[in-house]
Amino acid sequence: MKIQVVKLGIAVLSIVLFYAFIIPGWDIPEKYQKVPNPYPGEGLKTGAKIYKRTCAACHLTNGKGNKDITPVDFTSEAFQSQTDGTLFYKISEGRAGTAMKSYGDDFAEKKLWYLVNYLRTFKEEKKN
Ligand code: HEC
Repeated sequence: MKIQVVKLGIAVLSIVLFYAFIIPGWDIPEKYQKVPNPYPGEGLKTGAKIYKRTCAACHLTNGKGNKDITPVDFTSEAFQSQTDGTLFYKISEGRAGTAMKSYGDDFAEKKLWYLVNYLRTFKEEKKN
């Protein structure tokens, strides 16, 4: 009897954790959205290099994204209207259950901000 209760508890807990962390996807705490960019506009060359090597496979060199992999378009207003803190958080944490992994342990914090800065350059490309 007791073992069944424990089993039920584990089952319920797994379901709760699954819905809490997998299903809702991006859930950016407000304090992270508001984190100011310590290196605004800096490191574009480094950002570009990392982007081409690491991100372009899915997001393409023009930032519009391989539509078989992701609907995300870095040139779009919807994307560009997000804060730097939000983009930093998304790159660092990734999104569970999708091809977007967490890059927070792969690059130094400064380089993650450089990536954010590089993603901003896609905004200008759209005007051309
Ligand atoms: C293996 C494919 C893949 C690679 C490589 C990849 N991404 Fe992603 N990325 C995705 C997918 C898929 C999503 C959309 C996740 C979702 O469903 O919301 C995404 C989403 C994002 C988002 C959030 C988009 C939004 O709508 O706000 C950012 C920012 C991002 N990626 C940046 C990067 C950066 C920077 C790199 C390289 C360091 C990178 N990604 C590498 C697949 C990839």
